[in-house]
Amino acid sequence: MNTTLPGAPAFHYQDGQLMVEQLRLSDLAREHGTPLFVYSKASMLAALAAYQAGFAGRKSQICYAMKANSSLAVLQVFARAGCGFDIVSIGELARVQAAGGDVAKVIFSGVGKTRAEMRSALHAGIGCFNVESEAEIDVLNEVALQEGLRAPISIRVNPNVDPKTHPYISTGLKGNKFGIAHERTLATYQRAAQLPGLKVVGIDCHIGSQITEEAPYLDALDRMLDLVEAIAASGIALEHIDFGGGLGIQYQAEEPPRADALWAKLLQKIDARGLQNHTLMIEPGRSLVGNAGVCLTEVLFMKPGEQKNFCIVDAAMNDLPRPAMYQAFHGIVPLVQTTDSAPRLLCDVVGPVCESGDWIGKDRNLAARAGDVLAVMSAGAYCMSMSSNYNSRPRPAEVLVDGASATLIRPREQISDLFRGETLAA
Ligand code: LLP
Repeated sequence: MNTTLPGAPAFHYQDGQLMVEQLRLSDLAREHGTPLFVYSKASMLAALAAYQAGFAGRKSQICYAMKANSSLAVLQVFARAGCGFDIVSIGELARVQAAGGDVAKVIFSGVGKTRAEMRSALHAGIGCFNVESEAEIDVLNEVALQEGLRAPISIRVNPNVDPKTHPYISTGLKGNKFGIAHERTLATYQRAAQLPGLKVVGIDCHIGSQITEEAPYLDALDRMLDLVEAIAASGIALEHIDFGGGLGIQYQAEEPPRADALWAKLLQKIDARGLQNHTLMIEPGRSLVGNAGVCLTEVLFMKPGEQKNFCIVDAAMNDLPRPAMYQAFHGIVPLVQTTDSAPRLLCDVVGPVCESGDWIGKDRNLAARAGDVLAVMSAGAYCMSMSSNYNSRPRPAEVLVDGASATLIRPREQISDLFRGETLAA
């Protein structure tokens, strides 16, 4: 089993033991129990460095799309590295503040911002609202005027480009709820520029997530740059171009473009139109954290069956919702490589939750025994942040590793946490 793992080089085997940076994952599992999320700081910073290299010498701002993983210590890593944040709720803004992030580098996306959220974000002094509908423009203008403030805005364009990804995470097609239709964008800018509560500062676009081909990006950028030119020609000056997130990672055999290589191509397009004076913004989430994390889970029982064999583990769809929600693939590997010839079994790796949709991996060839600990790979993005207490299961602990040191950044939830704040009726 010497194939390169997703998440290498931070995650690698050494003397038969799966390591995270300089630590043995089996030691972390013993110390903190399972299920356990473990993140590599070096891996996050390396992913960020690929974008930074792509933007070297440019006016740019990387806004980490924190919905991918909003744990405070993860946000702190990116805040200290100079990132801003793409948020979608006021709860996320509070997390940025708690993690020491710079509120002026926050952009606020999402189709359904409430008036209360608009007010709080305005008073906090965020960098930009990414506005997603004509109705939102009017409400934001009204709220800003009521508060005696001016809201900096970008309009999110829906370029009608197919990102060729799972339909649930495709966002830039006409049938999706996101953004303002390409054909309506110029007129909407002209109207927004007249509204006294708004200050037009940029343009925004985000076409989907887990995109593994470069063509959709190139097409979307062309369509966006057409608009940038038309908006400038109509006398409205834009300061920044925000090209969203969406770059995919390797879960299995995907070969997504590297961030720096992709941006070299995208920048050529921007330069060819003479638009290099705009600040470039991006909103990557998954590509910064996805392969920087694993979820450790213990095998509870092996359950051979007539039609199917099951490997029942202590993590479930409440901890790792991506397979159940998107039929997503995550690699599953042992923490300790077996040297004996333990029999391999083709099995579905499933959790304890009472639904057949509660699976983590299908048809895996594993030499696992009860008590072994497995690593679910590529679990740094959209796992802990989407976890729940379904089936009244306490959520896992999280550990952040930096070289040879490990910090427990979130303790395992206790049973008492499950109903904290609830009351019995009279
Ligand atoms: N910007 C906006 C406006 C977004 O909606 C998203 C993700 C991002 C940036 C970051 O996209 P990324 O770079 O992470 O692809 N739960 C799903 C993914 C949902 C993505 C939602 N929006 C999954 O587990 O695959």
